[in-house]
Amino acid sequence: MLSNSKRCAREALYFLSRFQHHEQQPSRYSKFSFSISSSSSSTTSKASFINNKYINGKRNDDNNDTTNMNKKNLNYYHSEVPKSNNIQIEDLKSLIETNIPSQILRLKEIKTKFGNEKIGDVTVNMVMGGMRGIVGMLYETSLLDANDGIRFRGLTIPELQEKLTKKDEEPLPEALLFLLLTNKVPTDDQTESLRKDLMERATRFVQGAKNNPSKKNVFDVLKALPEETHPMTQLSAACLAMQNDSEFSRMYAKGTMKKTDYWKYIYEDSLNLIAKLPIVAAFIYKRSCVVEIERKSSDIPTVDADLDLAANFSQMMGFSSNECKELMRLYLTIHADHEGGNVSAHATHLVGSALSDPYLSFSAGLNGLAGPLHGLANQEVLKWLKEAQETLKGDYSAETVKTFVENTLKSGRVVPGYGHAVLRRTDPRYDCQRAFALKHMPNDEMFQLVSRLYEIVPEVLKATGKVQNPWPNVDAHSGVLLQHFGIKEENFYTVMFGVSRSIGCLSQLILSRAHGYAIERPKSVTSEWIEDKFKI
Ligand SMILES: CC(C)(COP(=O)(O)OP(=O)(O)OC[C@H]1O[C@@H](n2cnc3c(N)ncnc32)[C@H](O)[C@@H]1OP(=O)(O)O)[C@@H](O)C(=O)NCCC(=O)NCCS
Repeated sequence: MLSNSKRCAREALYFLSRFQHHEQQPSRYSKFSFSISSSSSSTTSKASFINNKYINGKRNDDNNDTTNMNKKNLNYYHSEVPKSNNIQIEDLKSLIETNIPSQILRLKEIKTKFGNEKIGDVTVNMVMGGMRGIVGMLYETSLLDANDGIRFRGLTIPELQEKLTKKDEEPLPEALLFLLLTNKVPTDDQTESLRKDLMERATRFVQGAKNNPSKKNVFDVLKALPEETHPMTQLSAACLAMQNDSEFSRMYAKGTMKKTDYWKYIYEDSLNLIAKLPIVAAFIYKRSCVVEIERKSSDIPTVDADLDLAANFSQMMGFSSNECKELMRLYLTIHADHEGGNVSAHATHLVGSALSDPYLSFSAGLNGLAGPLHGLANQEVLKWLKEAQETLKGDYSAETVKTFVENTLKSGRVVPGYGHAVLRRTDPRYDCQRAFALKHMPNDEMFQLVSRLYEIVPEVLKATGKVQNPWPNVDAHSGVLLQHFGIKEENFYTVMFGVSRSIGCLSQLILSRAHGYAIERPKSVTSEWIEDKFKI
């Protein structure tokens, strides 16, 4: 048990860290900031150390009365932040630059103080079991806890839904991008300025491709591929086709770029890529995924620069309803990041550590996302749901659904959308999609089936005696929402996941170069090496 004084001190430091962590918080926090900012810089450095509390994926929210803060309050608060105390830097790049020295210092301090401390043991099982549980990389943008689920810069999915700038009810992915890059919840103005920046990049890309033949090579490359080429292969190929535009690679080739400037070009490439991907994805969708002649098109999509990233993406694909735009905002927000060890994030991180530019690095991430045990699971889920509908013919009684699930296992397949390498509970990304469905489409027939499966599958998986996590993950629910709003082509679903994932993977890529991360090079061993070590 902590003594009262220790607990008070800990809570004060925690409160201080919460303030620093999300500087733009409700006014009662900004009052507190006044006394902090007038105190010494050592207080600040202590506070930033307390942020490491998130290393366990948990935080004490007892003091947080912002949970029920509605949008109105959030806007009210933003206008209340005193300018003199809380300089508003609208330009994201400058804000990142401002943070770099203190972050580098912080990382140095961690290395100096704890560099030789152990943070885990590695067993042979871990080495032979896909490196599960080995703490082996630094990844700042999000942290996954087996029971709490994902936290983006310390914020859970419901907290993101509540605190990030919204157009309607769902958060804008632009606001998430800002949060991931700066560790600060953006003001509405900051989100708007980033939205504009991304839409300008998108507009320049489309105009360039439409007006300048040498700039439309990505669309030519895509048109050269057979229409039946998997959309994920097309998206990855598109990334490589656009690599020609990499400012980082151009500058690196000149041989005069300073190491401390790397991140600036990685930033430009990353934001360009984040802006371009929805356009390329919409092109892939309309050219090669949709079947109906009247919806098909091989034209370069038109950007509406007044819209937000997600709404524009939805519109370019041919879906202009507000509900579909809302779904796209939610979809692009929740799929963006899932800490660093998952295949797509890790692949991007690994390739980027060799100083491969964002186009090359993210293409690698997409290739990993295209695997059925990772991102492609969302496509597999919808195929499986359609198979269930065909087999069960509307009979979703517990007994028939259970038999269907058992037959899936008997046929040697996994139940797609269930299980997770780290999570040990229902994925909060599943929960928020379920809440969306309950609100917008409670009577959808396939949603009824998904709900029934939620009651049945965990028990069937538990009965196998080997599945570590019998609960649904994000992929178990995304497809049913998309098909409800008309996006019925399941082979496109992982592409949408990829568009979203660029936000997380590329944010970390920028930070990795800004903070001077090392090239990745873990040690591998042979099976003989293990036998020799234990003298088998
Ligand atoms: C996500 C996944 C790859 C995690 O794998 P993992 O960390 O090895 O999971 P576990 O430790 O629980 O696996 C133990 C066993 O249970 C099996 N298992 C796990 N999830 C299962 C599922 N949904 N259906 C059937 N079997 C499953 C594994 O295949 C493994 O079997 P094995 O020992 O015969 O090889 C796995 O749960 C899976 O294949 N899920 C379905 C695909 C999916 O939804 N992927 C998206 C993830 S976000």
